[in-house]
Amino acid sequence: NWSMQNFIDMEVEKIRDLVGDKKVLLGLSGGVDSSVVGVLLNKAIGDQLTCIFVDHGLLRKNEGDQVMKSLEGKFGLNIIRVDAKDRFLSKLEGISDPEQKRKIIGNEFIYVFNDEAAKLDGIDYLAQGTLYTDVIESGTATAQTIKSHHNVGGLPEDMTFELIEPLNALFKDEVRELGLELDMPESLVWRQPFPGPGLGIRVIGEITEDKLEIVRESDAILRDEIKKAGLDRDIWQYFTVLPGFKSVGVMGDARTYDYTIGIRAITSIDGMTADFARIPWDILQKISVRIVNEVEHVNRIVYDITSKPPSTVEWE
Ligand code: XMP
Repeated sequence: NWSMQNFIDMEVEKIRDLVGDKKVLLGLSGGVDSSVVGVLLNKAIGDQLTCIFVDHGLLRKNEGDQVMKSLEGKFGLNIIRVDAKDRFLSKLEGISDPEQKRKIIGNEFIYVFNDEAAKLDGIDYLAQGTLYTDVIESGTATAQTIKSHHNVGGLPEDMTFELIEPLNALFKDEVRELGLELDMPESLVWRQPFPGPGLGIRVIGEITEDKLEIVRESDAILRDEIKKAGLDRDIWQYFTVLPGFKSVGVMGDARTYDYTIGIRAITSIDGMTADFARIPWDILQKISVRIVNEVEHVNRIVYDITSKPPSTVEWE
């Protein structure tokens, strides 16, 4: 007689028993897992939950505001939004190696989170959106390496919190079901996977604010058109990339010398292997025309037609 509603009731009860009148801290990323944990905990213990949302300035267009609007606005979560864009960008200045960028972003994430957490008094528990698959995976050495490669953040080394992981018996599809049962918006529950380092690994090489802006704007157009075409559930991930080189084009009577944008769209079951998505030509054309017209300093669009392997999903 198991249902999602039963699960919610049981978890709420369990969390209340465990936490009592103590306080819980949660790092919100804007992703499905941490958001569902937030809404569930909020239901159980309300204001005894404090969330820290580190905005590293590498999120997609309007993403930070949407997280706030939905989780703070609709569900009333108690969220501290940290605008850490300048901190991240200055640490990333002059850095072009992908793994170094990942490491800097991951470390800075922990520092910012810790700085904010240190300002709070009397926190006893740290909540996390660990899934069942994470629990199994962390068994093997290979998985550990993959995780450390992919996970932004991690736990502070001198952590003295007890962990609360209410999703650790669930698979991803069950977390989505749980989110819907908790009345969370579909846009959040069905959010496509988004890497921790965010747009930071979609600007190839050195990150600048101008380049971030080009990726952010072109990506917003791509997402808009994919949604309008009704393809957003069929494509596992779809995004734009800025390779950073310039090429010659022509606009009106004038020669241009501007950036190329790459479009990456894949179908996949788990992200481990992937096939490039067969987006209809007319939709790709619409996207191409809009990006060149609406985003400054872009004069060429290419479509990535490689699968994984041999390519990866991301370009870095
Ligand atoms: P790749 O590019 O390795 O991507 O084929 C596989 C999946 O992982 C995501 N990805 C990351 N996620 N931190 C993350 O949290 C990362 O550094 C990272 N790199 C790749 C990618 O978006 C895809 O879903």
